[in-house]
Amino acid sequence: HFTRRENPEWHGKTMLVTAGPTRETIDPVRYFTNRSSGKMGYAIAEEASARGANVTLISGPTNLPVPRGVNFISVESAEQMRQAVYSVFQENEMVIKCAAVADYRPKNTFDQKIKKQDGEWTIEMERTNDILKGLGERRTIGQTLVGFAAESQQIEEYAKKKIVSKNVDMIVANSITSPGSGFQGDTNEVTLYKRTGEVILVPMDTKVEVAKRILDEIMIIHKEIKK
Ligand code: CTP
Ligand code: CA
Repeated sequence: HFTRRENPEWHGKTMLVTAGPTRETIDPVRYFTNRSSGKMGYAIAEEASARGANVTLISGPTNLPVPRGVNFISVESAEQMRQAVYSVFQENEMVIKCAAVADYRPKNTFDQKIKKQDGEWTIEMERTNDILKGLGERRTIGQTLVGFAAESQQIEEYAKKKIVSKNVDMIVANSITSPGSGFQGDTNEVTLYKRTGEVILVPMDTKVEVAKRILDEIMIIHKEIKK
């Protein structure tokens, strides 16, 4: 028998969710990060688990409790996230990359605290690996791959470009500048851009309700892909 939220369609499905920011170390007391709270990814992981999926959540540092029933892997840096994601990617038939992964990290990290000196300080930054792009190159038949896009302008154009460049089935785009939407709050408004060209506006709602809608659409795509 199923509990109220359980759903036969979801039962036993394997899903990987990434969430939260990454933290890129400069020295023992300093790091670069971003404003991601992790709430959207945690809501997706929790809801998928409640529906009966076997969920692995790989998360950067957040203040959120681990959702009940998920396999939880805690990471800090983009590189740690990449390794954790690659280690479980093949076992998961659905992958949702909600994490706000750093695009750059300090080129050098220091074991000792950097002491201040007179004048300016320049930190050289290098690119991190694009985890999702790597998954897009490695995906196999039967796997559904979904990315997020945080944009402050030209949302549709950039979202559609990311579908192609990362070889994903759907991009969940949110405007980080519109009120009630984006990184920190409990609500979000997103637009789903599917590879098929279908565009779905998910109106402003709690991140939990938005998560439900995203999962419904992922299941529709997944059933198509499995055919
Ligand atoms: N992503 C990733 N690895 C990175 C950077 C991003 O896996 N090093 C993933 C994110 O998890 C997200 C998607 O790529 O699912 C889009 O992230 P976003 O920051 O919107 O796009 P970028 O490709 O990084 O491009 P830009 O930041 O310049 O818009
Ligand atoms: Ca980025």
